[in-house]
This record gives sequence, structure tokens and C-alpha cells, in this order.
Amino acid sequence: MLVPSTDPATCRITVCRDCCCGSAKVPGIDHTELTTRLARWSPVTVSRCLGVCEQANVVVVHPSAPGRAAGGRPVWLALVNSADAAGDICDWVRLGGPGTAALPAVLGLHLFTPPRRTPAPGRRRGAR
Ligand code: FES
Repeated sequence: MLVPSTDPATCRITVCRDCCCGSAKVPGIDHTELTTRLARWSPVTVSRCLGVCEQANVVVVHPSAPGRAAGGRPVWLALVNSADAAGDICDWVRLGGPGTAALPAVLGLHLFTPPRRTPAPGRRRGAR
């Protein structure tokens, strides 16, 4: 975790950094700078693989408490592979992010729905 925060009025960002995201498999970008830039505007958590490597680099923007109360939900963004994309995320977070500010059209190009995660056998709810 780069920046801890308990401020309920702040969005939070998860940046995937593992086998694909943040690696040489996604060339042409300074991954550390991208993460640092995002952390200037929102607490950032660095995550291990989120299981959608074909979308690398993956960034998830989580709503602030007011944003969640207004209906905002985590927004998964794919192919965040440029300083411009990181800047667009920063701009949106500054405006309030999910539930507070409309998703900018340019970020709509990065939007994706993650596949549902299936619990491992024997770990399903109600399994005995
Ligand atoms: S390394 Fe990011 S989704 Fe796998």
C-alpha cells in the first residue's frame, strides 16, 4: 500500500502490479511513475494479479463513501498504459469519481466488467 487513508470523502485506487500489469510485458510506460501519479490524488493500493491479465495494466477506482452512498461502485479500467490515461483518471478522481462525477467519455474506452470470480471447490457458500 502506498498511501493509507481513512478519509471517507476520498476515492481509493487499486493498481494491479504482478505478472503482467506493471511488468515488461506492458512496454513503453514508466509503471512506477504512473502509480506515483495516481497516488498524488487518491490513496493507492498495489494489488497482486487481479486475474484479468489480458487487460493489463488494470486500475480499479473505488468510490468514496459519499460516492458509494450515491450509488457509485468500483470501476475497472483496462489498458491504462499511458500517462494520458493516468491523467484522465486523476482528473476524474479530483472531480469525485464513481457515484459523484460522471465517467469521462475517454475513460469509457477503458471500462470493462471483470469476470465473476468462482470460489475454489469446497469453498463455496453453503458448501460443507
Ligand atoms: S497482473 Fe494485472 S491482472 Fe494479472
